[in-house]
Amino acid sequence: QKHYLVSGELKEWKGDTTEVYSTISSTKEYKRTLLGSIPDLQESEALDALNGALKAYDKGKGVWPTMHVKERIECMEVFVKKMKTKREEVVKLLMWEIGKSLPDSQKEFDRTIDYIEDTIEDYKQLDRNAAKFTKNDGVYAHIKRGPLGIVLCLGPYNYPLNETFALLIPAIIMGNTTIFKPAKHGVLLITPLLEAFQTSFPKGVVNVIFGRGRTVAAPIMKTGKIDVLALIGNSKSANALQEQHPKSNRLRLVLGLEAKNPAIILPDADLDLTINECLAGTLSFNGQRCTALKVVYVHEEISADFNKNFAKKVDELKFGNPWEDGVKLTPLPEPDKAAYIQGLIDDALSKGAKIINKKGGKHFDNFIWPAVLYPVTKDMRVYQEEQFGPIIPIVPFTDIEEPLDDMAESNYGQQVSLFGKDVYALSPLIDTLVNLVCRVNLNSSCQRGPDVYPFTGRKDSAQATLSVHDALRSFSIRTFVAFKDN
Ligand code: G3H
Repeated sequence: QKHYLVSGELKEWKGDTTEVYSTISSTKEYKRTLLGSIPDLQESEALDALNGALKAYDKGKGVWPTMHVKERIECMEVFVKKMKTKREEVVKLLMWEIGKSLPDSQKEFDRTIDYIEDTIEDYKQLDRNAAKFTKNDGVYAHIKRGPLGIVLCLGPYNYPLNETFALLIPAIIMGNTTIFKPAKHGVLLITPLLEAFQTSFPKGVVNVIFGRGRTVAAPIMKTGKIDVLALIGNSKSANALQEQHPKSNRLRLVLGLEAKNPAIILPDADLDLTINECLAGTLSFNGQRCTALKVVYVHEEISADFNKNFAKKVDELKFGNPWEDGVKLTPLPEPDKAAYIQGLIDDALSKGAKIINKKGGKHFDNFIWPAVLYPVTKDMRVYQEEQFGPIIPIVPFTDIEEPLDDMAESNYGQQVSLFGKDVYALSPLIDTLVNLVCRVNLNSSCQRGPDVYPFTGRKDSAQATLSVHDALRSFSIRTFVAFKDN
C-alpha cells in the first residue's frame, strides 16, 4: 500500500516504505510473516497534511466548521455506509495484524459502527437542544457547541479501529478538521477505509498519514498549530508530543493512557463467578487492554482456593490462530513483548514469587503462556509496571486498607473490580473507591463499555472523557449568541 490522504487527494508515495509483519501464520509456526508495507512519510508530507487540515478549517471560516449540522451528519452517514462494506477486509486484517480472535475482531468492527451511529444520534439530540433558547435575568441565550480547530489523532494498537475512531469520529462531526496517524500495529486495516474518508467528507477534513511518530507527528506539533492532541496510548508518547507544542497551555488534551486496574477479592466472594470474571479481566486479548485487571488482591482467607482454581482455568485456555474456534490466547503483535514478560517473571521469581500454574511462562516464538505469580510484593516490577500482556500478579491481603492504600499511592486511577457478596455492607467501601478511580465494577471485571458510559481516569490514566456523549463535548466548546428582551 503506497497511498496516504491529504487535502482530499490520495497521494502515491514514491519513497521508502516500512514493512508490516504479522506474528500469525497459518503454518502453526508463529514466526513473523510479511503482510505488506506502508509509506514511511517524512516531515514535508506531514506538514502538507497539516496544511490540508488548516485550509479546510480556515481559522473557523472554512466550509466544514461552518457547515450546517444536518449536512455534517449526512457526510458521516455516507461514511458509515461505505465503511460497512469493508467489514470482511478490516476484520481479516485485525486478526492478522494484531492477533485478535475472530469474534473479538468482528466485535471491534461492529462496535465501531455502533459508536458512529450512536454519535450521529447523540449529535442530533445536541442540535435539537441547541435550537432552544434560555432566558436568565432578561438575557436570552442560544447556546450551542462549536469546534476547537485542528485535531491530531493517534490511536493504540490493541484497538486500532475502535479506539482510534472513538477519538476521530466525534472530532470530525463537531466540525474540527483532523490529521490522523494510525497505530504501528493495526495500520494496514485503515487502508481499505481511505477512499471512504476521501469521498465522504470535504477535502482536508480528514488527512491520513503514515510513518514514525518522531518523524511525522512531532513536526506537526512543533508548528504550534494543533488545537487538540487526541491520543490513546502511553503517557511517554503523549508527554513527548505535548512538549513539542510551543504553546502547550493552549492545547486541549484528550488522552486515554495507562492503568493498573486492581481486582479486590473479599472473603465472602462467590468464587466461581470471581474466577471467571478475573479470567476474562486479566486475559482477554492476552491482557493487552488498558482496562485489563493488572493486579489481583485476594484476601488470605480464600487465597488458597482462589489460586488453585484460577491457575487451573488459565491453563485450560486454548491457544491458536485467531480464526480457530474457542481460541482465547494468540501470539503477541509486538515482537519483543514475550521477552519483556519473561523479564517480569524472572524479576518476580528472584524476589520470592512463584509461578502457580503449570504452563505459566512456557514460550514459543512470540507467544508466552500466561504466568500466574504468587505472592507478589511491591518491590517486584510486575507490581510496579503496567504489564499490558499475559502475566497475572496476585497479592495477598488481610486488611482492606492495604489495597486501598496502594490504590491511593498509585499513579493511575481508571477502574477497580470489587468481589464480595454483601453489596449493602460494601457501600462505605464503594464510596471510598469511587474517589480513587472513576469506575467501580461490582462482581465483574473492568471494561470500557457500554460506550454510552463515561470512560475516563484519574491521575496519569486519562485526560478528558470518552463516551459517545462525553466525546462530543471533549472535542468542542460551548458558544452562544445572547440578546436582550428590549
Ligand atoms: O485498551 C483499552 C480499551 O479501552 C479497552 O477497552 O474494555 O472495551 O476492552 P475494552
